[in-house]
Amino acid sequence: MRKFSSDGVAVVKTLFASVVLRRNQPLTMAQADIALIGLAVMGQNLILNMNDHGFVVCAFNRTVSKVHDFLNNEAKGTKVIGAESLEDMVSKLKKPRRIILLVKAGQAVDDFIDKLVPLLDSGDIIIDGGNSEYRDTTRRCKSLQEKKLLFVGSGVSGGEEGARYGPSLMPGGHKEAWPHIKDIFQSIAAKVGTGEPCCDWVGDEGAGHFVKMVHNGIEYGDMQLICEAYHLMKDVLCMDHDEMAQVFEEWNKTELDSFLIEITANILKFKDADGTHLLPKIRDSAGQKGTGKWTAISALEYGTPVTLIGEAVFARCLSSLKEERVNASRSLAGPQRVKFSGNKAQFLEDIKKALYASKIISYAQGFMLLRQAALEFGWSLNYGAIALMWRGGCIIRSVFLGKIKEAFDQNPELQNLLLDDFFCKAVQDCQESWRRVVSTGVQQGIPMPCFTTALSFYDGYRHEMLPANLLQAQRDYFGAHTYELLSNPGKFIHTNWTGHGGKVSSSSYNA
Ligand SMILES: *[C@@H]1O[C@H](CO)[C@@H](O)[C@H](O)[C@H]1NC(C)=O
Ligand SMILES: *[C@@H]1O[C@H](CO)[C@@H](O)[C@H](O)[C@H]1NC(C)=O
Ligand SMILES: *[C@@H]1O[C@H](CO)[C@@H](O)[C@H](O)[C@H]1NC(C)=O
Ligand SMILES: *[C@@H]1O[C@H](CO)[C@@H](O)[C@H](O)[C@H]1NC(C)=O
Repeated sequence: MRKFSSDGVAVVKTLFASVVLRRNQPLTMAQADIALIGLAVMGQNLILNMNDHGFVVCAFNRTVSKVHDFLNNEAKGTKVIGAESLEDMVSKLKKPRRIILLVKAGQAVDDFIDKLVPLLDSGDIIIDGGNSEYRDTTRRCKSLQEKKLLFVGSGVSGGEEGARYGPSLMPGGHKEAWPHIKDIFQSIAAKVGTGEPCCDWVGDEGAGHFVKMVHNGIEYGDMQLICEAYHLMKDVLCMDHDEMAQVFEEWNKTELDSFLIEITANILKFKDADGTHLLPKIRDSAGQKGTGKWTAISALEYGTPVTLIGEAVFARCLSSLKEERVNASRSLAGPQRVKFSGNKAQFLEDIKKALYASKIISYAQGFMLLRQAALEFGWSLNYGAIALMWRGGCIIRSVFLGKIKEAFDQNPELQNLLLDDFFCKAVQDCQESWRRVVSTGVQQGIPMPCFTTALSFYDGYRHEMLPANLLQAQRDYFGAHTYELLSNPGKFIHTNWTGHGGKVSSSSYNA
């Protein structure tokens, strides 16, 4: 009975809303181009962005008073309309209906989908713009396909500012939906160069959210690399904050030109109310929300050596052991510190090159993970388009991504970014500096997990022969796991190493 009466209230409310609407404006009911559910700041800003580009947006929030607040404040004087209920919202949408969900990832997304499904018609489109896990997006694609509805999972990056004035958008899912949302998405996205939008179709199923996840992982790596450069400047070169700010400002005019380098310069300069620099007063214990971790987990899952993002995640974990580190610092000694006696300007140039080379490695690894996922899930990903989506709007936006786009445009089948002529030469040019920075830092006892792992990866990737022959021999010795001979790959053999081993090879476990 309660259910009946609350439905009744909803119907009366809907009728009432429509009467009010008819009286005020001679519009047909189905007037909105798109609806958005979830009026937190991101949602509000995306709505205003769409409104600026001439789209009529219908706003809805489970707490209906939020809709009224929004219409009477932030959206006052715009063409944005509100809805009192999901039924009301659906009735106001042109067909095929387009509905964006910007609600908390997880159960809330499934709950809204469940409520929307009975209200929609075949061919209508639900878009999840939240931070969903890509596997959830794949599952939702499959279940909505059975119901003849189209589903899109779109990565949205750029924070509140991006949502308002031009985010990076990474949509994936049912491709049939793309022609119906392309115009809206590309209009509101960030633009670079001669007006190219930082938004294109990514691929099937959860591909959009997967690409967003890798974006966030790369963001972790870029941030940690900058932190390592800062640490070296501060503790090896003993530079003060204004001097460091100046260096980052200079770097921002080079191939490192990027949002993160720019804000780092601003952060270094920033002074507190008392006139002293704020940065050294901030507690050195990093938080994380998990998307970097998801990238590292995927890397392990699909066997791709995305070492730099992994180290960046672990660097945050280590930093968060603040109290433990404070204790350890009293008993664990570092190397005898010798004052840096080299050429300071030269070493700064070395740090810049180490940062640039490491960054190239990180992106090469990120794209390796994308390739592996594409293989794993049968997605066909356009890597050049992905680089362009990250070129503007998002946190990792940089001039550098334009070069990555060029590399994949030149050769869409490019196996690894490092094999592209431009990047191959760029790393080559940085190599000596990079090695000087890593060895100096190691001698001075400065932790540089990302600079060093990048260099190790580079040295591993460029080696025709690695010591894994010994690894295979060890595995065969203790576990009869077999090995191949260089002269006959594909044929697995076992050796009687000890004189008392069996000749049956192991198949029951792997070490
Ligand atoms: C409703 O709006 C509030 C912010 O005003 C937001 O935190 C919440 O996520 C929204 N929820 C839904 C489901 O619309
Ligand atoms: C960084 O470079 C961009 C242009 O590429 C510029 O808009 C921005 O102001 C620069 N930031 C700093 C802090 O120098
Ligand atoms: C640090 O050392 C103090 C004193 O030895 C001890 O009480 C405290 O539990 C330690 N903290 C951590 C996080 O290890
Ligand atoms: C392993 O080698 C020893 C001595 O060379 C031999 O006696 C033994 O039979 C071999 N074992 C098998 C299973 O071939």
